[in-house]
Amino acid sequence: MADVTKVNDLISIERSGDIALICIDNPPVNATGQVVRQGLLDAVEQLKADDTAKVIAIYAAGRTFVAGADIREFGKPSQPPSLPDVYNIIEDCQTPIIAIMHGTALGGGLELGLATHARIGIEGLRVGLPEVNLGLLPGAGGTQRVPRLAGIPMALDMSLSGRMVSAKEALDKGLLDRLVAGEPRDVALVAAQDVLDGKLTTRHTCDLDTPRDDKALDDTAAMLKVKQAHLFAPHKIVEAVRASYLPRTEGLKIERQGFLDCMQTPQRSGLIHAFFGERAVSNIPEAKGDTRPLAKIGVIGGGTMGSGIATSCLMAGLSVRLIEVAQDGLDRGVATITKNLEGAVSRGKMSAAKKDAALANLSPSLGLDDLADVDLVIEAVFENMDVKKDIFGKLNTICKPGAILASNTSYLDVNEIAACTDRPQDVLGLHFFSPAHVMRLLEIVQGAKTAPDVLATGFALAKTLKKVGVLAQVCDGFIGNRILSHYAKTAAYLVLDGASPQHVDNALEGFGFAMGPHKVSDLAGMDIGWANRKRLAATRDPAERYGGDVADRICEQGWYGRKTGQGYYIYGQGAPVPNPEVATIIDGVRADKGITPQDFTDQDIVDRYMTAMIAEATRVVEDGTAKRPLDVDMVFVFGYGFPRHRGGPLHYADTIGAAELVRRIKEYAKEDAHYWQVPALLEKMAAEGTKFADLNK
Ligand code: 3HC
Repeated sequence: MADVTKVNDLISIERSGDIALICIDNPPVNATGQVVRQGLLDAVEQLKADDTAKVIAIYAAGRTFVAGADIREFGKPSQPPSLPDVYNIIEDCQTPIIAIMHGTALGGGLELGLATHARIGIEGLRVGLPEVNLGLLPGAGGTQRVPRLAGIPMALDMSLSGRMVSAKEALDKGLLDRLVAGEPRDVALVAAQDVLDGKLTTRHTCDLDTPRDDKALDDTAAMLKVKQAHLFAPHKIVEAVRASYLPRTEGLKIERQGFLDCMQTPQRSGLIHAFFGERAVSNIPEAKGDTRPLAKIGVIGGGTMGSGIATSCLMAGLSVRLIEVAQDGLDRGVATITKNLEGAVSRGKMSAAKKDAALANLSPSLGLDDLADVDLVIEAVFENMDVKKDIFGKLNTICKPGAILASNTSYLDVNEIAACTDRPQDVLGLHFFSPAHVMRLLEIVQGAKTAPDVLATGFALAKTLKKVGVLAQVCDGFIGNRILSHYAKTAAYLVLDGASPQHVDNALEGFGFAMGPHKVSDLAGMDIGWANRKRLAATRDPAERYGGDVADRICEQGWYGRKTGQGYYIYGQGAPVPNPEVATIIDGVRADKGITPQDFTDQDIVDRYMTAMIAEATRVVEDGTAKRPLDVDMVFVFGYGFPRHRGGPLHYADTIGAAELVRRIKEYAKEDAHYWQVPALLEKMAAEGTKFADLNK
């Protein structure tokens, strides 16, 4: 029987002759929470004092080595011992210690390995320093030990990109000493014996000097000042990596201070909210339970959306039947899919062989009749209720019993579509975002009669496609587009009332949006918004202030944005420049409406835009269109280019506070009481001093 003693609930020591194995067993990902830190420390102290232990091997149970510090502890008072202290004690131990790493060794997990005296990777291992994705820097020696082993460029690359590094690359770069196949415990016993036999060399990482590379540090610091000026952690990372020239104690002190500084920032809080939010959206009863088969997918429509959806399914290994009405449309669809897949190969997202296999899974077809054997149909034709109703009526007779019938509509009533079938329980909305093979958001729209296993299959599809599936209820625009329709008006009002489109864009890009709303509309095509405004004209509330005049007049010129060479901006060689004709149009509209332009600061623009977004987002939570505030946040982070480090509109709202938001809305209402109305939920939160975060629990 193995000689195993428990150090505590999560750490055990096994003895086999001169060899001591330390096993970390903290499912699901062996994060180094307080109990793990304490157990590791106690285990190492115990074995240090034991002359019969000549070599120590640390490995982990379960599906992965250590995936890092326990993120759930961040933002709370830290409990000793600290990770850097434990790792220094490991590094300083005179008994050789080796790490056996499998699965993923990330952040504090990789840093544990780096503090030991040799690292063995098990085939399939991926390592990384993803702390930057959480607004942090590697805070347990990563910035000090990676440069010593693999050089400054590799340390900067890993800690600034947060990317996963393959075991092969880690071996080539000197982060691993060996790469083998096998089970962690078996590998640990063999490697430990090799240390005893002198076949595996051990050394203390911090005895090495970091090879100098001032140019890499200076160039990176300069690049970050331009490209990531608004972020906090990346700059601290460069400082900490630079400190790896110093002796260990001094370097670690700078790293620690940088880590603690990052920990205090709202960026850290926003990014960690996004980390847990991404997982929490599908951690709901509706996403669980029985699912239906998902092997064969039918996609109706070979336009940009349909081709993107088909590409996404093919990339996930599903087989796709693509349906178009005419041969030229079908050919265009296949060409787009092929181009998308080739793009994925060139971006390193898939191998050429996988692309060929994906294309072999595509069967183009004319006419809906070929959908008789598919498990799920996703209709992605243009936004016209009559066309959609016609298609669903036909699918009702063509598709096999139990097949799921989904519409990719972005606004329309899924219940009305479902009513054209005699199986509304099989119907739901699956709202993808363009480009559908790239964007991670999938709104899963529950119809009044959608069956539970159909909904759960929607979530299963999101997982298969590596998307973030968010549950939404039926309304015009669901979660995202409904909120967008509301706050987009603020951008239009700001322009009518005195700001230039470029000023609005710059202010919001300064806030962190990848693109301002006018650049987005130029990119998407201004004709889309124009068509939508015409669609809604008949039902528009006469009390509502109309903000579309400027955009309408631009469209009347035939200027739809990028695709016509001009819109709010002019597109040619180099960066787009503001369209001077637009300024004339704006002046004309203001004159016609008798508007005296006001001066807006960047802050005014951000405040109005964000307050409008938060107000509608609050109503979406209030009326149950979104289940929780975090669902709205993830829709915006994964589908609308919302700055991830701000966590989403309602996480950001908590940083402002309900009372201040109510005050702002009442202030703006003095100009337009119809548009600026305080949502009842916000008023209540202001009175009670509660936060949106409280509603996520
Ligand atoms: N701390 C706490 N919980 C964690 C965690 C962590 N570091 N990593 C993952 N989890 C949780 C997830 O929230 C999830 O919980 P749930 O089941 O309740 O939703 C569960 O573990 C499983 O995670 P995933 O669903 O993400 O599982 P996957 O198999 O898809 O992915 C993974 C595994 C690649 C390890 C992924 O979880 C991941 O990337 N984790 C984060 C890694 C990371 O950022 N590490 C750095 C932490 S910061 C740090 O180490 C600071 C140090 O430098 C001082």
